[in-house]
Amino acid sequence: MTHLIREDVKDDLLSRGYSRRQMLRTAMMFSGAAAALSLNTELAFAQEDEAAKNMVRIGSNECWTGPMAPGLQAGMAAFANANRYSPNGEVAQLTKTIAGIENVPEDHIATYPGSGGILARTLVAFCSPTKGLVQADPTYDNPTRVAKFLKTPISNVPLTSDYRHDVKAMLAANPDAGVYYVVNPNNPTGTMTPMAEIEWLVDNKPAGAVVLIDEAYIHWTKDYPNNTATHLVRAGKEVIITRTFSKVFGMAGARVGFLMASPDVLKKVGLYETDRPSIPTTACATASLTATGLINARRKELWENRAMTVEYLTKRGLKVIGPSEGNMIMVDWKTKSAKDMGIIYKAQGVQISSPRWPSWPTVGRISIGSKTDMEAFCNATGKILT
Ligand SMILES: Cc1ncc(COP(=O)(O)O)c(C=O)c1O
Repeated sequence: MTHLIREDVKDDLLSRGYSRRQMLRTAMMFSGAAAALSLNTELAFAQEDEAAKNMVRIGSNECWTGPMAPGLQAGMAAFANANRYSPNGEVAQLTKTIAGIENVPEDHIATYPGSGGILARTLVAFCSPTKGLVQADPTYDNPTRVAKFLKTPISNVPLTSDYRHDVKAMLAANPDAGVYYVVNPNNPTGTMTPMAEIEWLVDNKPAGAVVLIDEAYIHWTKDYPNNTATHLVRAGKEVIITRTFSKVFGMAGARVGFLMASPDVLKKVGLYETDRPSIPTTACATASLTATGLINARRKELWENRAMTVEYLTKRGLKVIGPSEGNMIMVDWKTKSAKDMGIIYKAQGVQISSPRWPSWPTVGRISIGSKTDMEAFCNATGKILT
């Protein structure tokens, strides 16, 4: 079956030590073969929770509401012209808009159907049987799933006691890795790693490796846009920044994300490109990006709902990990497992995250939803704790 893989892709993989079997698994992963794996862990777990459709859904770090009005309008207009593959150069328009907002050249940007797929492609492009993945523990678990699927070595490095990525320990864990994965703010903790520490990692990592900086939740943070790592892309460093429209823009089901990297790095990841987001989705994303007032209104709403929830839980004597800057918090249930608490909340009509972080067995993740969602969560907590 390896004859189905493009020659340049085959050459790249074989030259980096992939076996024929691993090469095949790579092809399966991007072709969506039934035996392959989902490229988005939130999506994979959300599907497993299909039965919870009518519950308060605060388990998958989604936005509590859908796309912004200008995005919906642009998306619908583009749908009307969907007989064309590219009615009005929508992909170029999105790239141009991102370039303007992020101050990154257009040839440093590529859009994909969701950022989970970019993470997977980065691993294939920069990891191999000898070049491992280094990441924090706990962190977003999609790269773990991909690395296991590809049989790439993984180094899990505990977060510091104040929940930053321990960048020095990450480098020490594998000084010759292919990818150093930094999620800022981190999922599931929502905590930030200071830029100076990320810069240290970028300056000290082995040549040829990339620091993969996942900024899926960056819009929710107080300091955005001053805390993004885009200056490292502009400086031509070996970094990849990923972003998604699944969070503040409310487009998780529409599937669009993008990466920012130097053209050399972008080309390596692009070797594994399979498809682009649909034109209506792309048009929706472009119009949403510039809806600054609406973006800021959502951020403020999130901050209020998160503060209200943290205050409630703290008053009830529970330990909330943090401070979280994302649309999620973690609670240490201490005497109960995250798995059991998920079942207990479900019985109350509330869906919190599935237990996905084995190193923190008693800590559960709760996504921040609307005020009504969070009031329902607090009510359920009251009942559970009495
Ligand atoms: C840290 C992080 N990165 C990437 C993703 C993938 O997002 P998507 O594939 O929806 O763009 C998620 C999803 O929740 C995430 O939490």
